Amino acid sequence: MASLATNCAGLVLRNPILSASGTFGHGLEMQHFAPPSCLGGLVSKTVTLKPRHGNPHPRIAETEAGLLNSIGLENRGIEAYLRDVLPQMASADCVVVTNIGGERVEDFAELAACLDARPEVDALEINLSCPNVQGGKLPFSTDPRMAEAVVRGVRAATRKPLFAKLSPNVTDIGEIARAAEAAGADAITAVNTLLGMSVDWRTGKPGINTVMGGYSGAGIKPVALRCAWQCVRSVRIPVIGCGGIATAHDVLEYLVVGCRAVEVGTACFSDPSQLARLAPEIARLLEERGIESIEHLIGTLRTTLPVQPAPAGAR
Ligand code: FUM
Repeated sequence: MASLATNCAGLVLRNPILSASGTFGHGLEMQHFAPPSCLGGLVSKTVTLKPRHGNPHPRIAETEAGLLNSIGLENRGIEAYLRDVLPQMASADCVVVTNIGGERVEDFAELAACLDARPEVDALEINLSCPNVQGGKLPFSTDPRMAEAVVRGVRAATRKPLFAKLSPNVTDIGEIARAAEAAGADAITAVNTLLGMSVDWRTGKPGINTVMGGYSGAGIKPVALRCAWQCVRSVRIPVIGCGGIATAHDVLEYLVVGCRAVEVGTACFSDPSQLARLAPEIARLLEERGIESIEHLIGTLRTTLPVQPAPAGAR
């Protein structure tokens, strides 16, 4: 049996598959479809300091090759998360990652401080990149100085491993990844949704109330894969690939470009149980090729480009 275990930001993952934030509840809601023991890790929906109702409906629209969303970070806030959700997560047989979001730099550090002492949480993912609040104008993942300020604040508040989740809606994602690394991030999650929109020409109405929203799913995979690769080339910390992943082949593509793990999101909406089928399928594909460990595949992209990156997470 091929080994799927991998190491990412100091965490031991039984396999490189994590649920992506916002697509799998906080984690255990979906255990009847995909038990945590099938996964490397569970990433929660973004938690904010105060409860948020989210954006007006409609806030989800299906498109030809994916999904537009403008949820607006609906959640019950950190108090409810600490009280009602985390105690259940203690029984999750996989790595537990809490995704945190805010509107001000200080919000993130405050959230990290609230979570720091909680043993149920193995790592924090900093959502620098939600396109659906304040009209997409939050600058955390488009301005390297802002990204750095947020990550530095969180770093000062906790010793837990930190993933910085970046936006693809930038000119140079490598620059933002380097800023997050310099501020103390332990891994980069690449990427959140692309800014998109849809319209019904008959009614003249946009698919979602906010007109623009986050586009995810199969259609974004080439863009997300490119972003992940650019991050791999830009930083020495591990990169976690995210965007358009549905099959075992998709997972392996992200690993070949140098990611040490992946997050599966939109695919969970059509069939959440497929998350549990990915690891056995990956093991089968590796065995077919005579590859004993998934580690042997990470960063094996063959390119004639002059600068061949060190595999992410080499240190
Ligand atoms: O609107 C939302 O809740 C989406 C969040 C995100 O993309 O991070």
